[in-house]
Amino acid sequence: MTARTQGAQAPASAPARVSPEKLPADASPSARAQWLRDELERNSYLYYVLDAPTIPDAEYDALFRELQALEAEHPELLTTDSPTQRVGGAPLAAFDSVRHRLPMLSLNNGFDDEDVVNFDRRCAQGLGRTASAAPADDLFSAADAAENSVEYACELKFDGLAMSLRYEDGRLVQAATRGDGETGEDVTANVRTIKAIPLKLRGKAPAVLEVRGEVFMYRADFDRLNARQAEAGEKTFVNPRNAAAGSLRQLDPRITAKRPLSFFAYGIGELQGADRPAMHSVMLDGFAELGLPVCTERRVVKGAQGLLSFYREIGERRDQLPYDIDGVVYKVNAIAEQEQLGFVSRAPRFALAHKFPAQEMTTTVEDIEVQVGRTGAITPVARLAPVFVGGVTVTNATLHNEDEIRRKDVHIGDTVIVRRAGDVIPEVVAVVLERRPADARAFVMPTACPVCGSHIEKLEDEAIARCTGGLICAAQRKQALLHFAQRRAMDIEGLGDKVVDQLVDQGIVRTPADLYKLGVAKLAALDRMADKSATNLIAAIETSRETTLNRFIFALGIRHVGEATAKDLARHFGKLDNLLVAGEAALLEVNDVGPVVAQSIANFLGESHNVEVIEQLRAAGVHWPE
Ligand code: IVH
Repeated sequence: MTARTQGAQAPASAPARVSPEKLPADASPSARAQWLRDELERNSYLYYVLDAPTIPDAEYDALFRELQALEAEHPELLTTDSPTQRVGGAPLAAFDSVRHRLPMLSLNNGFDDEDVVNFDRRCAQGLGRTASAAPADDLFSAADAAENSVEYACELKFDGLAMSLRYEDGRLVQAATRGDGETGEDVTANVRTIKAIPLKLRGKAPAVLEVRGEVFMYRADFDRLNARQAEAGEKTFVNPRNAAAGSLRQLDPRITAKRPLSFFAYGIGELQGADRPAMHSVMLDGFAELGLPVCTERRVVKGAQGLLSFYREIGERRDQLPYDIDGVVYKVNAIAEQEQLGFVSRAPRFALAHKFPAQEMTTTVEDIEVQVGRTGAITPVARLAPVFVGGVTVTNATLHNEDEIRRKDVHIGDTVIVRRAGDVIPEVVAVVLERRPADARAFVMPTACPVCGSHIEKLEDEAIARCTGGLICAAQRKQALLHFAQRRAMDIEGLGDKVVDQLVDQGIVRTPADLYKLGVAKLAALDRMADKSATNLIAAIETSRETTLNRFIFALGIRHVGEATAKDLARHFGKLDNLLVAGEAALLEVNDVGPVVAQSIANFLGESHNVEVIEQLRAAGVHWPE
């Protein structure tokens, strides 16, 4: 089992059985096998449904191996729903077709507040809850505030693949994809390998229960899978949805078994031998009690206001969720009311998918340029035809490094999928190869820095190419100055990139020490710099003279020396002069300093121009208590 920070949880009231007494190992093999199966299933339930694992993974694995051994020794004890039977059976030639007994429908989409208000109004009217339509200019109609506003179950719209699971007498007998809604594919052998999906339901299960839900992949599992694929030289996936789809489409279930798929239940198909619950929300609680994972991010609300506040709250937390969602789904909660509202063509009138702005879009690569970072790292950046993605217009996306461009096979002129999630820098995730124009050009890494013309070098074991210009390079100088001035370093408020660009481009400032020679007049002469801002900036530079040794060390921007290492160095050496004369051996004695960091510091201090800057800073009056 893979550890994760958040998973499915059932309501606190769901019954968690008390751990059975440990069955003596000398019980009969059949009793022991039964006990092991129960124990493994109970722990899967605690893990996947209640999100409350009680035993460490290693202990689970030991019980699992014991059951495997027992079943190998006594094949007659093997049952088809034994937890050991998830490893994946023999490969199939093709998937059989499955005709859904009840069609798998799709949802109508809404994109803005008005769509939601209209949806609520249509539901209310369809249920005879409002006498007349509210005035068109009043988004939040009286129906909302009224006693009789419609009750909805709100849930997430998972970005995975719809799945129908058929349980007969509590045993999983068939799993089918949605297909065209009428007919899907039989992927039972693959779905049996998904640990989050119980092979056997808990408690008293109905004679027939078709559970509808979404197969998906947690983002952390996706990242691990992609890292593993890349390491093995196999193709990586564009996003968790594609990874989930590709994994389910495998004809060899043993491959699917190695893919970390998950599942959330959200609906019901055929049901025999039990009554349908009166409320959708109650049905979801019931699923959890049967051992099916149900997402806890759900809520029962009333009226359009309730729907919109759920949408806003989830929207704010979207990027923190451990899986991708592309919206939220609203469903009229009372099943009788759902039936009353019915369907229009292929979608229910009682439900709405309220979409979030897409986090992935396609656009074209107009050019690939390189940027130079503080440490000289050369980052290729795709210049894109403007595209609205993740809520903003994006024109640049990082391509990370040359290997990455090669791996993703990005050419200038290509149509690409760009992803922007949260505050993360937009990135090119994949090329749409079918749309590559005949005149697409491959990217060639420049051999000289585009800013200073110095040679670009790439060390054998490093993915990153670097400009060798050091502080001769204006790009590196600018980044070094911004790093020096940042809040956690010398804390010079007002020294942003616009000012730094001008100071460096006009040759006014070359090194951090030059900052302390600036006067108000020089600054005020810069573009878009008011007298007041110039005065404030000079004051901030003035104040920064008084600092601490650890801030000063961090501000120098030595590669691999972050805030924590700077603190360790300051504490260890006490005085700057002690650090300046320390060789690699002495540096290695510092807490948490390994060979890479020690060498980086020694290299930095071995460059006379760096030591000069340090001396100039001290001469300019930068000081700290020693
Ligand atoms: S209910 C009758 N609930 O969205 C409605 N669907 O456009 C049946 N989906 O194919 C679907 N999260 O793959 C429902 N909480 C959720 C969902 C959800 C994702 C997907 C599902 C379906 C598509 C409908």
